[in-house]
Amino acid sequence: MAGDQDDGRVAVITGASSGIGAATARKLAADGHRVVLLARRADRIQALAGELGKRALAIPADVTDRDSLVAAAGRVQREFGRTDILVNNAAAMARGPFTSEQRGLYRRLVETNLLGAMTTTEVFLPQLRDDGGGDLVNISSVAARSVRAGIAVYAATKSGLNGWSEVLRQELQPDIRVTVIEPGGVATNPETEQSRGYPLIPVEQVAEIISFCISRPRTVSINEVLVRPSSQAH
Ligand SMILES: NC(=O)c1ccc[n+]([C@@H]2O[C@H](COP(=O)([O-])OP(=O)(O)OC[C@H]3O[C@@H](n4cnc5c(N)ncnc54)[C@H](OP(=O)(O)O)[C@@H]3O)[C@@H](O)[C@H]2O)c1
Repeated sequence: MAGDQDDGRVAVITGASSGIGAATARKLAADGHRVVLLARRADRIQALAGELGKRALAIPADVTDRDSLVAAAGRVQREFGRTDILVNNAAAMARGPFTSEQRGLYRRLVETNLLGAMTTTEVFLPQLRDDGGGDLVNISSVAARSVRAGIAVYAATKSGLNGWSEVLRQELQPDIRVTVIEPGGVATNPETEQSRGYPLIPVEQVAEIISFCISRPRTVSINEVLVRPSSQAH
């Protein structure tokens, strides 16, 4: 059964081609887990898998395309035999006032951030259930807890993710633990850091938190982690 800290569990990470997802893949591989890297940019996940070696598998997949997720799950089953940890990290972001002109983008946000996480989860759930010791980690945002003008649809997707996660936590316990991570500003690119004017959370720190949550004894479930840069007010 999966569940101990260093038994080489299999972690599937969406959005592993950059930012928090790539850092999480590096950290979980360093922890001794096998990691499955999902994203649309095949070149980036293949390069990361090359860096991580035999314990990594790169599978191009789009979380808005269920067929690509079903194919990915089949390949994980064939090559690694199971999934113990699923990190729903893939997302898109949009800033600016709510307008009709942006409606295409709004649909993409909902389809990626909310429906994408739901579809990935329902596709991988049978594997997560199999060994009776799964972890589902949903990367939400401080925007689910503290909203401000200019991120209406993004905040809606992350609030939705939180509500959905809490229901799943109750439905899937105790075999699958559900953890929601709600970061404030994370240093995924230098421009964001400059525009904020204060140091953001390094991606490696978010990865450390994920690693900590999933490595607790199976009787302990960390349900929610809200983490901000020390200088961030809201
Ligand atoms: N950065 C922050 O300040 C911050 C704060 C709070 C929460 N978050 C959350 O943290 C998570 C990671 O964000 P990040 O900051 O690391 O941003 P990022 O570097 O832009 O990463 C987003 C990832 O999502 C993937 N992705 C987007 N659409 C996809 C799709 N349709 N199918 C599969 N993968 C898709 C991208 O890969 P491809 O383009 O290769 O598909 C990329 O790997 C997100 O859930 C975000 O909402 C970030």
